[in-house]
Amino acid sequence: MLIRTTPTIPTREITDERLYLDRRAFLRASVGVAAGGVAGALLPTDEAFAQAAIPNVKKSNLSTTGEKLNAFEDITSYNNFYEFGTDKGDPKANSGRFKPTPWTVKIDGEVGKPGDYTLEDLLKRFPLEERVYRLRCVEAWSMVIPWVGFPLGDLLKVVEPTSKARFVEFTTVQRPAEMPGLRYPVLEWPYREGLRLDEAQHPLTLMAVGLYGKTLLNQNGAPLRLVVPWKYGFKSIKSIARIRLTEKQPQTSWNMSAAQEYGFYSNVNPQVDHPRWSQAKERRIGEFLRRDTLMLNGYADQVAALYKGMDLKKNY
Ligand code: MTE
Repeated sequence: MLIRTTPTIPTREITDERLYLDRRAFLRASVGVAAGGVAGALLPTDEAFAQAAIPNVKKSNLSTTGEKLNAFEDITSYNNFYEFGTDKGDPKANSGRFKPTPWTVKIDGEVGKPGDYTLEDLLKRFPLEERVYRLRCVEAWSMVIPWVGFPLGDLLKVVEPTSKARFVEFTTVQRPAEMPGLRYPVLEWPYREGLRLDEAQHPLTLMAVGLYGKTLLNQNGAPLRLVVPWKYGFKSIKSIARIRLTEKQPQTSWNMSAAQEYGFYSNVNPQVDHPRWSQAKERRIGEFLRRDTLMLNGYADQVAALYKGMDLKKNY
């Protein structure tokens, strides 16, 4: 993974709360609900997909509390989405042509109910929650983000994993005409990631469709992305087109590019350094001093049991 040695994000004084509580956005959302229900409101036909407020979102008690949220502006302008370029500002600058609607996710492999699931289907079926999570990038920076989404485990239940299913493979959509970064072989395209089935079913694992109460912007992985808060950010694959359940451990783009640097597990672990830099500390975007990185990104109480008996230095 490319690492920047010079921080490029200025500390901003943006009042995120103002954006978040934007009354007009919520009024617009109520109109959307009256017209077409939650899914209708989430799939606007107007130009402003990214600006659509999401109604009927319940706050989840699985939220991380007591930490200052990163500003909307930082979350949406300091991104990794290599399909749009490798600089932090590229995804925002280069994703304008990307069309997140209509959207279909293919779910296949070791499942009883394979099929093409539209975003609308998914939104009708699963109640949306707001979850505040820390995102710790492997490049040693972090953010605190209020996601909107539903647990991946709920979706997996619906598709009925077979007794052979042990892993889940995720694939990002591959559209060269809309994703200029695909021209460069910086990674194995399409972007691929994977989880063990029990990790994918864990209640913390979220399919996100929004943040700060609004639908995802393209640079954050519209219309549907994964968020796995105890793993390095690159596991949180964006703009998912396919979910395949498998018997064998799937290949992942970062592992294929540099296996000695990016393992399949990629759990946040301050005791296991990246071969080229330490993972003991991180810079919270918007802050000056670095802070200690927490084991499993601070979610050890909830997820450490998944790795009981495993050597986490070997399974990095
Ligand atoms: N998904 C795809 N398809 N392509 C990418 O380049 N980058 C990953 C992950 N998901 C990436 C991706 C990395 S390295 C990080 S840190 C997070 O997205 C960043 O998510 P954010 O930009 O929404 O903060």
